[in-house]
Amino acid sequence: MFSTKNISPKQIAGFTALVLAIPESILVYIVEKTWWWAAASFFILFVGGYFLIYFMLERFIYRKIKLIYKFIYKTKATKREETYYKYVLPQKSIDEVREDVEAWAAKNEEELELLRSNEQFRKEFLQNLSHEFKTPVFAIQGYVDTLLSGALKNPEVNKKFLENTAKNVDRLTHLLTDLDEISKLERGELVLYKQNFVIQDLVKDVYESLSVKADKHQISCSFKKGCESPLTVFADKEKIRQVLINLVGNSIKYGRKNGSITASMYKTDGRHILIEISDDGIGISEKSLPRIFERFYRTNEGRSIDVKGSGLGLAICKHIIEAHGQTIHVRSTEGIGTSIGFTLDAKRD
Ligand SMILES: Nc1ncnc2c1ncn2[C@@H]1O[C@H](COP(=O)(O)OP(=O)(O)O)[C@@H](O)[C@H]1O
Ligand SMILES: [Mg+2]
Repeated sequence: MFSTKNISPKQIAGFTALVLAIPESILVYIVEKTWWWAAASFFILFVGGYFLIYFMLERFIYRKIKLIYKFIYKTKATKREETYYKYVLPQKSIDEVREDVEAWAAKNEEELELLRSNEQFRKEFLQNLSHEFKTPVFAIQGYVDTLLSGALKNPEVNKKFLENTAKNVDRLTHLLTDLDEISKLERGELVLYKQNFVIQDLVKDVYESLSVKADKHQISCSFKKGCESPLTVFADKEKIRQVLINLVGNSIKYGRKNGSITASMYKTDGRHILIEISDDGIGISEKSLPRIFERFYRTNEGRSIDVKGSGLGLAICKHIIEAHGQTIHVRSTEGIGTSIGFTLDAKRD
């Protein structure tokens, strides 16, 4: 059967001219009874019809299509494109043109989707930001107002109110430092100074720097058995210190009284080292797990335990680890504990 799909304008013209010419020449033959009259009229009608139809198609349809092409590809008519429009486009069937336009529409839709999600992201970011600032600023405002309107003279509450004010100022400072850090990371300004160092030594340093906090919560920090033998990694030591401070800090904050924090490190495939910080604290619900590396994301339990957190710590960790070309992941069960691990390159010679 003659397929009407993928039919080019030349074929349309030829086919239509043929359909017109055949019955007409038969009619001429019946009337005139001479075959050459019939043949001549067939020839004239076919050729004339062909060119006329082709010309009309070209003039009224393909020129418009050409315009559409120019519009969707936003092209200037270079020599190559002119050739394209002249020789390639007329060969294209309407179906192929439709496919091209559909592909263009899909691409546009993708771009729009990206813009939309960026817009959504920006809105959420601003909303989170103002929310995070509002709480401490309003608290400070409340304490200062109360102090000014008389509480300052009340020795029972004045120190406490001032301490609470200081705590909220701390929180603001904390938030600003984290914000500054994350915006630097997101502008891609992170320059890594990589060096070889023993990861256990760095973990020990971090344990020491957080020992006052850990003691306050009566949490013990140690290495997993079998992980003592030194492993050398190749990374930016100060940035990895920041990651570890965040992870161990979280494990202390969201840990259990009298709990423990364990660091473990393994050589995975000869080229990478896996470092994990595990605790036996409150854990993270399955619902929150996929979100904890998002900026500003905090679980409700987390919020109720630590008022100072910004929810930016893990987002910063993820940036740093990804800047190293590595990955960070979490395993956790509510009420049992959390384990956050990341990989680093093994020692380079
Ligand atoms: N070790 C952990 N145990 C339980 N929950 C955790 C742990 N680490 C992180 N979380 C949860 O993930 C959230 C995000 O952590 P993070 O980005 O460091 O923010 P922050 O510490 O400022 O709250 C925390 O608010 C907390 O709810
Ligand atoms: Mg944190």
